[in-house]
Amino acid sequence: MARIYGCHYELWDLNPLLGVLHEVAVQKPKDLDVASLLRQMQMSKETFVPKWRKLDYWFHEDFHQLLFRAWGFYHSLMDEYSKRLLVVPLLKVTRHFSYDDVQRQKLSKSPKAVQRVQALLKSDWKRKFFHMLEEEIIEVLKKLYEYQRYSPEHESSPPADVKYTVKAGVDTMSEKLEEEADILVTSPPYLQSHEYIRRAKMDLFWLGFSEEEIKRLSELEIPYRDVPPHRIRSEMYWKLRDRIDAHHLRRTFDNYFWAVVGALERLGEMVSSHMFLFVGRASMRGRSIPIDQIVVHCVTLTCLKSLPTRELALASCLSGVLCSLLLFVCVYLKLIYQKARALQQFLRIHLGLPYQPMAESNCHSQPACKRRNIRKLEMIDKKIIPRPPFPYTYQP
Ligand SMILES: C[S@@+](CC[C@H](N)C(=O)[O-])C[C@H]1O[C@@H](n2cnc3c(N)ncnc32)[C@H](O)[C@@H]1O
Repeated sequence: MARIYGCHYELWDLNPLLGVLHEVAVQKPKDLDVASLLRQMQMSKETFVPKWRKLDYWFHEDFHQLLFRAWGFYHSLMDEYSKRLLVVPLLKVTRHFSYDDVQRQKLSKSPKAVQRVQALLKSDWKRKFFHMLEEEIIEVLKKLYEYQRYSPEHESSPPADVKYTVKAGVDTMSEKLEEEADILVTSPPYLQSHEYIRRAKMDLFWLGFSEEEIKRLSELEIPYRDVPPHRIRSEMYWKLRDRIDAHHLRRTFDNYFWAVVGALERLGEMVSSHMFLFVGRASMRGRSIPIDQIVVHCVTLTCLKSLPTRELALASCLSGVLCSLLLFVCVYLKLIYQKARALQQFLRIHLGLPYQPMAESNCHSQPACKRRNIRKLEMIDKKIIPRPPFPYTYQP
Protein backbone atom coordinates (compact mmCIF):
# COMPACT_ATOMS: atom_id res chain seq x y z
CA MET A 1 0.00 0.00 0.00
CA ALA A 2 2.83 2.41 0.86
CA ARG A 3 4.15 2.05 -2.67
CA ILE A 4 0.77 2.77 -4.23
CA TYR A 5 0.50 5.98 -2.26
CA GLY A 6 4.03 7.01 -3.16
CA CYS A 7 5.48 6.58 0.36
CA HIS A 8 8.96 5.24 1.04
CA TYR A 9 8.93 1.95 2.86
CA GLU A 10 11.08 -0.72 4.43
CA LEU A 11 10.11 -4.38 4.82
CA TRP A 12 11.67 -6.85 7.25
CA ASP A 13 11.07 -10.50 7.94
CA LEU A 14 13.08 -13.50 9.02
CA ASN A 15 11.52 -15.47 6.20
CA PRO A 16 13.50 -15.04 2.95
CA LEU A 17 10.29 -15.62 0.98
CA LEU A 18 9.47 -11.98 1.70
CA GLY A 19 12.08 -10.93 -0.90
CA VAL A 20 10.67 -13.28 -3.53
CA LEU A 21 7.08 -12.20 -2.90
CA HIS A 22 7.96 -8.52 -2.93
CA GLU A 23 9.68 -8.84 -6.30
CA VAL A 24 6.59 -10.51 -7.72
CA ALA A 25 4.21 -7.98 -6.21
CA VAL A 26 5.97 -4.90 -7.60
CA GLN A 27 6.50 -6.40 -11.04
CA LYS A 28 4.81 -4.27 -13.71
CA PRO A 29 2.46 -6.62 -15.57
CA LYS A 30 2.74 -7.17 -19.30
CA ASP A 31 1.44 -9.90 -21.54
CA LEU A 32 3.04 -13.28 -21.34
CA ASP A 33 2.59 -16.28 -23.62
CA VAL A 34 1.79 -18.71 -20.82
CA ALA A 35 1.26 -21.70 -23.14
CA SER A 36 4.65 -21.18 -24.77
CA LEU A 37 6.37 -20.84 -21.38
CA LEU A 38 4.85 -24.12 -20.21
CA ARG A 39 5.81 -25.86 -23.46
CA GLN A 40 9.41 -24.76 -22.90
CA MET A 41 9.23 -26.14 -19.40
CA GLN A 42 7.98 -29.50 -20.65
CA MET A 43 10.81 -29.72 -23.21
CA SER A 44 13.55 -28.53 -20.85
CA LYS A 45 16.29 -30.98 -19.90
CA GLU A 46 17.52 -28.93 -16.93
CA THR A 47 17.11 -30.49 -13.52
CA PHE A 48 17.25 -29.19 -9.98
CA VAL A 49 17.36 -31.42 -6.91
CA PRO A 50 16.79 -29.69 -3.56
CA LYS A 51 19.40 -30.33 -0.89
CA TRP A 52 16.90 -31.94 1.41
CA ARG A 53 17.34 -35.27 3.14
CA LYS A 54 13.63 -35.65 3.80
CA LEU A 55 12.59 -35.24 0.17
CA ASP A 56 11.31 -38.84 -0.06
CA TYR A 57 9.23 -38.35 3.05
CA TRP A 58 7.40 -35.38 1.54
CA PHE A 59 7.09 -36.41 -2.12
CA HIS A 60 6.06 -39.66 -3.74
CA GLU A 61 8.95 -40.90 -5.85
CA ASP A 62 6.81 -40.96 -9.02
CA PHE A 63 6.64 -37.15 -8.86
CA HIS A 64 10.36 -36.61 -8.37
CA GLN A 65 11.43 -36.35 -12.00
CA LEU A 66 8.57 -34.04 -12.93
CA LEU A 67 9.39 -31.69 -10.06
CA PHE A 68 13.17 -31.82 -10.65
CA ARG A 69 12.65 -30.84 -14.30
CA ALA A 70 10.09 -28.12 -13.55
CA TRP A 71 12.38 -26.53 -10.96
CA GLY A 72 15.44 -27.08 -13.19
CA PHE A 73 13.70 -25.02 -15.86
CA TYR A 74 12.80 -22.33 -13.32
CA HIS A 75 16.36 -21.98 -12.04
CA SER A 76 17.78 -21.89 -15.59
CA LEU A 77 15.40 -19.15 -16.81
CA MET A 78 17.21 -15.99 -17.87
CA ASP A 79 14.09 -13.91 -18.37
CA GLU A 80 13.39 -12.29 -14.97
CA TYR A 81 9.79 -11.45 -15.85
CA SER A 82 8.84 -15.07 -16.65
CA LYS A 83 10.71 -16.20 -13.56
CA ARG A 84 8.77 -13.86 -11.31
CA LEU A 85 5.47 -14.90 -12.80
CA LEU A 86 6.32 -18.57 -12.45
CA VAL A 87 7.68 -18.73 -8.90
CA VAL A 88 4.48 -18.53 -6.81
CA PRO A 89 2.47 -20.90 -9.07
CA LEU A 90 5.32 -23.40 -9.02
CA LEU A 91 5.57 -23.27 -5.23
CA LYS A 92 1.81 -23.74 -4.87
CA VAL A 93 1.55 -26.65 -7.31
CA THR A 94 4.63 -28.33 -5.80
CA ARG A 95 2.92 -28.21 -2.40
CA HIS A 96 -0.21 -29.70 -3.91
CA PHE A 97 1.89 -32.63 -5.11
CA SER A 98 3.42 -33.13 -1.66
CA TYR A 99 2.19 -34.92 1.46
CA ASP A 100 1.84 -31.60 3.29
CA ASP A 101 -1.59 -30.78 4.65
CA VAL A 102 -2.08 -27.21 3.46
CA GLN A 103 -4.97 -26.69 5.90
CA ARG A 104 -2.63 -27.01 8.88
CA GLN A 105 -0.57 -24.16 10.34
CA LYS A 106 2.58 -26.28 10.46
CA LEU A 107 4.25 -28.39 7.80
CA SER A 108 2.71 -31.77 8.52
CA LYS A 109 1.79 -34.99 6.79
CA SER A 110 -1.81 -35.98 7.38
CA PRO A 111 -4.05 -38.89 6.27
CA LYS A 112 -6.01 -36.36 4.20
CA ALA A 113 -2.86 -35.26 2.38
CA VAL A 114 -1.86 -38.91 1.77
CA GLN A 115 -5.30 -39.53 0.24
CA ARG A 116 -4.85 -36.50 -2.03
CA VAL A 117 -1.53 -37.83 -3.31
CA GLN A 118 -3.02 -41.28 -3.89
CA ALA A 119 -5.87 -39.74 -5.86
CA LEU A 120 -3.37 -37.76 -7.93
CA LEU A 121 -1.36 -40.89 -8.68
CA LYS A 122 -4.47 -42.57 -10.09
CA SER A 123 -5.15 -39.58 -12.38
CA ASP A 124 -3.36 -38.05 -15.38
CA TRP A 125 -1.17 -36.15 -12.92
CA LYS A 126 1.35 -34.77 -15.45
CA ARG A 127 -1.44 -33.04 -17.35
CA LYS A 128 -2.93 -31.87 -14.08
CA PHE A 129 0.42 -30.41 -12.99
CA PHE A 130 0.75 -28.19 -16.07
CA HIS A 131 -2.93 -27.31 -16.09
CA MET A 132 -2.72 -26.13 -12.46
CA LEU A 133 0.42 -24.17 -13.25
CA GLU A 134 -1.28 -22.41 -16.15
CA GLU A 135 -4.25 -21.41 -14.00
CA GLU A 136 -2.02 -20.13 -11.24
CA ILE A 137 0.11 -18.02 -13.62
CA ILE A 138 -3.03 -16.41 -15.03
CA GLU A 139 -4.13 -15.70 -11.47
CA VAL A 140 -0.83 -13.93 -10.72
CA LEU A 141 -1.17 -11.84 -13.87
CA LYS A 142 -4.72 -10.86 -12.91
CA LYS A 143 -3.57 -9.84 -9.43
CA LEU A 144 -0.73 -7.75 -10.81
CA TYR A 145 -3.13 -5.79 -13.02
CA GLU A 146 -5.50 -5.44 -10.09
CA TYR A 147 -2.71 -4.09 -7.88
CA GLN A 148 -1.90 -1.40 -10.45
CA ARG A 149 -5.51 -0.26 -10.32
CA TYR A 150 -5.32 0.42 -6.58
CA SER A 151 -3.28 3.49 -7.39
CA PRO A 152 -5.27 6.57 -6.27
CA GLU A 153 -4.96 8.09 -9.74
CA HIS A 154 -6.42 4.86 -11.19
CA GLU A 155 -4.97 5.17 -14.69
CA SER A 156 -1.42 5.68 -13.55
CA SER A 157 0.53 2.88 -12.01
CA PRO A 158 2.23 3.19 -8.58
CA PRO A 159 4.93 5.86 -8.71
CA ALA A 160 8.22 4.45 -9.86
CA ASP A 161 10.40 6.69 -7.69
CA VAL A 162 9.32 5.24 -4.34
CA LYS A 163 12.37 4.40 -2.25
CA TYR A 164 12.25 1.00 -0.61
CA THR A 165 14.42 -1.43 1.30
CA VAL A 166 13.57 -5.08 1.58
CA LYS A 167 15.36 -7.01 4.31
CA ALA A 168 14.34 -10.62 3.85
CA GLY A 169 15.94 -13.23 6.09
CA VAL A 170 16.82 -10.75 8.84
CA ASP A 171 16.41 -11.00 12.58
CA THR A 172 14.37 -8.10 14.00
CA MET A 173 16.11 -8.56 17.33
CA SER A 174 19.42 -7.34 15.95
CA GLU A 175 18.26 -5.10 13.11
CA LYS A 176 18.33 -1.30 13.37
CA LEU A 177 16.28 1.42 11.71
CA GLU A 178 18.89 3.62 10.06
CA GLU A 179 16.52 6.53 9.45
CA GLU A 180 13.53 7.85 11.37
CA ALA A 181 10.20 6.49 10.14
CA ASP A 182 6.71 8.01 10.39
CA ILE A 183 4.87 4.79 11.04
CA LEU A 184 5.72 1.24 11.91
CA VAL A 185 3.28 -1.54 11.03
CA THR A 186 3.88 -4.98 12.40
CA SER A 187 2.19 -8.30 12.86
CA PRO A 188 4.20 -10.28 15.40
CA PRO A 189 3.98 -14.09 15.56
CA TYR A 190 0.96 -15.62 17.34
CA LEU A 191 2.90 -16.94 20.30
CA GLN A 192 3.70 -20.61 19.62
CA SER A 193 0.71 -21.34 17.35
CA HIS A 194 2.61 -21.00 14.06
CA GLU A 195 6.08 -22.06 13.07
CA TYR A 196 6.76 -19.80 10.15
CA ILE A 197 10.13 -21.11 9.05
CA ARG A 198 9.06 -24.72 9.46
CA ARG A 199 5.99 -23.95 7.38
CA ALA A 200 8.08 -22.27 4.67
CA LYS A 201 10.79 -24.94 4.72
CA MET A 202 9.46 -26.82 1.70
CA ASP A 203 9.36 -23.67 -0.44
CA LEU A 204 12.81 -22.62 0.70
CA PHE A 205 14.36 -25.98 -0.28
CA TRP A 206 12.93 -25.76 -3.79
CA LEU A 207 14.18 -22.18 -4.08
CA GLY A 208 17.68 -23.47 -3.39
CA PHE A 209 18.22 -22.90 0.35
CA SER A 210 20.33 -25.46 2.18
CA GLU A 211 19.49 -27.37 5.37
CA GLU A 212 22.07 -25.31 7.33
CA GLU A 213 20.59 -21.98 6.18
CA ILE A 214 17.07 -23.06 7.09
CA LYS A 215 18.23 -24.39 10.46
CA ARG A 216 19.94 -21.08 11.19
CA LEU A 217 16.73 -19.18 10.40
CA SER A 218 14.61 -21.56 12.53
CA GLU A 219 16.89 -20.90 15.48
CA LEU A 220 16.20 -17.17 15.24
CA GLU A 221 12.43 -17.44 15.13
CA ILE A 222 10.36 -15.78 17.86
CA PRO A 223 9.37 -17.31 20.32
CA TYR A 224 11.42 -20.51 19.85
CA ARG A 225 14.69 -18.88 20.79
CA ASP A 226 16.15 -17.54 23.99
CA VAL A 227 16.35 -13.77 24.24
CA PRO A 228 17.78 -11.60 27.04
CA PRO A 229 15.20 -10.80 29.76
CA HIS A 230 13.29 -7.58 29.27
CA ARG A 231 11.22 -5.60 31.76
CA ILE A 232 7.50 -6.17 31.06
CA ARG A 233 5.39 -3.56 32.78
CA SER A 234 1.99 -5.12 32.37
CA GLU A 235 -0.05 -6.53 35.21
CA MET A 236 -1.85 -8.83 32.81
CA TYR A 237 1.43 -10.37 31.70
CA TRP A 238 2.35 -11.25 35.29
CA LYS A 239 -1.13 -12.57 36.09
CA LEU A 240 -1.19 -14.83 33.05
CA ARG A 241 2.41 -15.91 33.58
CA ASP A 242 1.61 -17.07 37.11
CA ARG A 243 -1.05 -19.39 35.72
CA ILE A 244 1.38 -21.20 33.41
CA ASP A 245 2.68 -24.26 35.22
CA ALA A 246 4.73 -26.00 32.53
CA HIS A 247 8.29 -24.71 32.59
CA HIS A 248 8.81 -24.92 28.83
CA LEU A 249 5.59 -22.95 28.14
CA ARG A 250 6.53 -20.29 30.63
CA ARG A 251 9.86 -19.97 28.88
CA THR A 252 8.16 -19.59 25.48
CA PHE A 253 5.78 -17.02 26.99
CA ASP A 254 8.68 -15.01 28.43
CA ASN A 255 10.78 -15.23 25.28
CA TYR A 256 7.85 -14.09 23.22
CA PHE A 257 7.12 -10.92 25.21
CA TRP A 258 10.77 -10.12 25.88
CA ALA A 259 11.42 -10.28 22.14
CA VAL A 260 8.33 -8.43 20.87
CA VAL A 261 8.17 -5.72 23.54
CA GLY A 262 11.95 -5.30 23.50
CA ALA A 263 12.03 -4.85 19.72
CA LEU A 264 9.08 -2.45 19.65
CA GLU A 265 10.45 -0.31 22.46
CA ARG A 266 13.83 -0.11 20.76
CA LEU A 267 12.51 0.54 17.26
CA GLY A 268 9.78 2.88 18.58
CA GLU A 269 12.45 5.44 19.41
CA MET A 270 12.95 5.93 15.68
CA VAL A 271 9.23 6.18 14.89
CA SER A 272 7.85 9.70 14.95
CA SER A 273 4.12 9.22 14.63
CA HIS A 274 2.29 5.89 14.99
CA MET A 275 2.89 2.20 15.53
CA PHE A 276 0.28 -0.27 14.32
CA LEU A 277 0.07 -3.77 15.68
CA PHE A 278 -1.90 -6.51 13.94
CA VAL A 279 -2.57 -9.49 16.14
CA GLY A 280 -4.89 -12.40 15.93
CA ARG A 281 -6.20 -14.59 18.73
CA ALA A 282 -3.48 -16.52 20.47
CA SER A 283 -3.75 -18.99 23.28
CA MET A 284 -1.59 -21.21 25.45
CA ARG A 285 -3.02 -24.51 26.66
CA GLY A 286 -6.52 -23.26 25.77
CA ARG A 287 -6.11 -20.03 27.71
CA SER A 288 -6.48 -16.88 25.63
CA ILE A 289 -3.48 -14.51 25.76
CA PRO A 290 -4.34 -10.90 24.78
CA ILE A 291 -1.02 -10.09 23.10
CA ASP A 292 -2.28 -6.71 21.92
CA GLN A 293 -3.24 -5.48 25.40
CA ILE A 294 0.05 -6.54 26.94
CA VAL A 295 2.19 -5.07 24.17
CA VAL A 296 0.22 -1.81 23.89
CA HIS A 297 0.38 -1.35 27.64
CA CYS A 298 4.16 -1.82 27.79
CA VAL A 299 4.97 0.24 24.74
CA THR A 300 2.67 3.11 25.75
CA LEU A 301 4.31 3.19 29.17
CA THR A 302 7.71 3.37 27.56
CA CYS A 303 6.67 6.31 25.47
CA LEU A 304 5.52 8.17 28.54
CA LYS A 305 8.74 7.53 30.37
CA SER A 306 10.52 10.66 29.12
CA LEU A 307 11.37 11.55 32.74
CA PRO A 308 13.51 9.11 34.71
CA THR A 309 11.32 7.08 37.10
CA ARG A 310 12.56 8.73 40.32
CA GLU A 311 11.98 12.27 39.02
CA LEU A 312 8.62 11.24 37.62
CA ALA A 313 7.54 9.89 41.02
CA LEU A 314 8.75 13.04 42.77
CA ALA A 315 7.03 15.31 40.25
CA SER A 316 3.72 13.45 40.57
CA CYS A 317 3.97 13.51 44.38
CA LEU A 318 4.63 17.27 44.46
CA SER A 319 1.91 18.04 41.96
CA GLY A 320 -0.49 15.85 43.97
CA VAL A 321 0.20 17.84 47.15
CA LEU A 322 -0.11 21.18 45.32
CA CYS A 323 -3.37 20.15 43.64
CA SER A 324 -4.89 19.04 46.96
CA LEU A 325 -3.90 22.34 48.58
CA LEU A 326 -5.35 24.32 45.71
CA LEU A 327 -8.58 22.33 45.80
CA PHE A 328 -8.87 22.86 49.54
CA VAL A 329 -8.38 26.64 49.16
CA CYS A 330 -10.95 26.77 46.32
CA VAL A 331 -13.59 24.85 48.28
CA TYR A 332 -12.95 26.98 51.32
CA LEU A 333 -13.24 30.23 49.35
CA LYS A 334 -16.42 29.02 47.66
CA LEU A 335 -17.95 28.19 51.05
CA ILE A 336 -17.07 31.64 52.42
CA TYR A 337 -18.49 33.21 49.26
CA GLN A 338 -21.73 31.21 49.51
CA LYS A 339 -22.09 32.02 53.21
CA ALA A 340 -21.53 35.74 52.49
CA ARG A 341 -24.09 35.64 49.65
CA ALA A 342 -26.60 33.84 51.91
CA LEU A 343 -26.02 36.38 54.69
CA GLN A 344 -26.44 39.19 52.17
CA GLN A 345 -29.76 37.65 50.97
CA PHE A 346 -30.87 37.15 54.57
CA LEU A 347 -30.13 40.76 55.42
CA ARG A 348 -31.76 41.97 52.22
CA ILE A 349 -34.97 40.05 53.03
CA HIS A 350 -35.02 40.97 56.71
CA LEU A 351 -34.09 44.60 56.21
CA GLY A 352 -36.66 44.87 53.43
CA LEU A 353 -34.21 45.27 50.56
CA PRO A 354 -35.33 44.00 47.09
CA TYR A 355 -34.62 40.26 46.48
CA GLN A 356 -31.69 39.43 44.14
CA PRO A 357 -31.28 35.77 43.03
CA MET A 358 -27.87 34.05 43.44
CA ALA A 359 -25.68 33.85 40.33
CA GLU A 360 -25.99 30.61 38.30
CA SER A 361 -23.19 28.26 39.28
CA ASN A 362 -23.15 26.68 35.81
CA CYS A 363 -22.12 29.37 33.39
CA HIS A 364 -21.51 27.20 30.31
CA SER A 365 -24.47 28.65 28.49
CA GLN A 366 -23.22 32.19 28.93
CA PRO A 367 -21.31 33.74 26.00
CA ALA A 368 -18.17 34.58 28.02
CA CYS A 369 -17.88 31.01 29.32
CA LYS A 370 -18.57 29.53 25.89
CA ARG A 371 -15.76 31.62 24.46
CA ARG A 372 -13.44 30.43 27.22
CA ASN A 373 -14.29 26.78 26.55
CA ILE A 374 -13.78 27.18 22.83
CA ARG A 375 -10.37 28.71 23.52
CA LYS A 376 -9.54 25.70 25.70
CA LEU A 377 -10.48 23.31 22.92
CA GLU A 378 -8.44 25.29 20.43
CA MET A 379 -5.46 25.07 22.74
CA ILE A 380 -5.80 21.29 22.82
CA ASP A 381 -6.12 21.17 19.05
CA LYS A 382 -3.07 23.28 18.53
CA LYS A 383 -1.22 20.89 20.81
CA ILE A 384 -0.34 23.70 23.23
CA ILE A 385 -1.24 21.17 25.90
CA PRO A 386 1.46 18.51 25.51
CA ARG A 387 0.39 14.95 24.77
CA PRO A 388 2.38 11.72 24.88
CA PRO A 389 4.44 11.35 21.69
CA PHE A 390 2.59 8.24 20.48
CA PRO A 391 -1.17 8.55 20.66
CA TYR A 392 -1.81 4.78 20.63
CA THR A 393 -5.45 3.97 20.51
CA TYR A 394 -6.56 0.55 21.45
CA GLN A 395 -10.03 -0.75 20.72
CA PRO A 396 -10.77 -4.29 21.85
C1 LIG B 1 2.07 -13.06 12.00
S1 LIG B 1 3.40 -13.26 10.87
C2 LIG B 1 3.32 -11.79 9.95
C3 LIG B 1 3.71 -12.00 8.54
C4 LIG B 1 3.59 -10.78 7.66
N1 LIG B 1 4.40 -9.68 8.17
C5 LIG B 1 2.15 -10.37 7.52
O1 LIG B 1 1.76 -9.35 8.07
O2 LIG B 1 1.41 -11.08 6.87
C6 LIG B 1 4.80 -13.12 11.91
C7 LIG B 1 6.10 -13.02 11.15
O3 LIG B 1 7.15 -12.85 12.10
C8 LIG B 1 8.32 -13.37 11.49
N2 LIG B 1 9.39 -13.55 12.51
C9 LIG B 1 9.49 -14.47 13.49
N3 LIG B 1 10.63 -14.30 14.16
C10 LIG B 1 11.29 -13.26 13.62
C11 LIG B 1 12.53 -12.62 13.87
N4 LIG B 1 13.35 -13.01 14.84
N5 LIG B 1 12.88 -11.58 13.07
C12 LIG B 1 12.07 -11.17 12.07
N6 LIG B 1 10.87 -11.72 11.79
C13 LIG B 1 10.49 -12.77 12.55
C14 LIG B 1 7.85 -14.66 10.87
O4 LIG B 1 8.71 -15.08 9.83
C15 LIG B 1 6.46 -14.26 10.35
O5 LIG B 1 6.50 -13.93 8.98
